[in-house]
Amino acid sequence: LARGGLAHDLAGRHVVVSAGGTREPLDPVRFLGNRSSGRQGVALAATALARGARVTLVGASLAVPAPAGARLVRVTTAEQLGEAVLEAAADADAVVMAAAVADFRPVSTQGAKIKKSGTGAPELVLEQTVDVLAQLVAVRPAEQVVVGFAAETGDETGDALAHGRAKLARKGCDLLVVNEVGPAGHPSGFEGADNAAVVLAADGAEVVVPLGPKEALADVVWDLVVARLRR
Ligand code: CTP
Ligand code: CA
Repeated sequence: LARGGLAHDLAGRHVVVSAGGTREPLDPVRFLGNRSSGRQGVALAATALARGARVTLVGASLAVPAPAGARLVRVTTAEQLGEAVLEAAADADAVVMAAAVADFRPVSTQGAKIKKSGTGAPELVLEQTVDVLAQLVAVRPAEQVVVGFAAETGDETGDALAHGRAKLARKGCDLLVVNEVGPAGHPSGFEGADNAAVVLAADGAEVVVPLGPKEALADVVWDLVVARLRR
């Protein structure tokens, strides 16, 4: 069927999209963050709106404006993002975790700005954050479709796609959108308007999406979600 909102195939559905990158504060002026702009998540929200969905967008430090018509919940940290997503997901038909969520955070946040003293440097002690996607999968209502994103690189143990397949199985979500990240300094997929990906489904389907607008990848994701929603 036609894409880009001509098919109102998400009418009557509530979808939750997380977007952007979380920030974990070190002190009042510094944080551990990542390069995510939120563009892909915002494209997912915009295309879902065009297809008739009610959209909750959980935005972590978005570098681009949220689409009009979405309910925007602004968050900063991984913990806040987790709380907002899990609350919104309670009555959602689908949840798409496009946000880049910190894996680690400082064990403690300094109340005052960390100052230089002598020539030494402070050691950062980190702890793992909660895995929001894993929590979603653990508590999801029956028939809720859960989608993860993964930026992968190949290494000596396997190529990006092999890592993606293993992650899909490990995470237990229905779909995993795998971006192959380019070499350092050429991080395709992060700040730009275009993206390329392979969407892996738990039922074995694999859809290759060539480099193109982030809205085109978003529409492919919604096509695959719609096919897995209860009627
Ligand atoms: N994710 C999450 N909570 C986290 C970390 C990641 O919900 N604390 C979600 C991301 O939003 C994404 C998916 O999990 O949809 C996969 O993220 P990724 O970083 O690729 O997976 P990790 O399990 O964190 O594995 P690693 O970073 O070690 O490859
Ligand atoms: Ca991670």
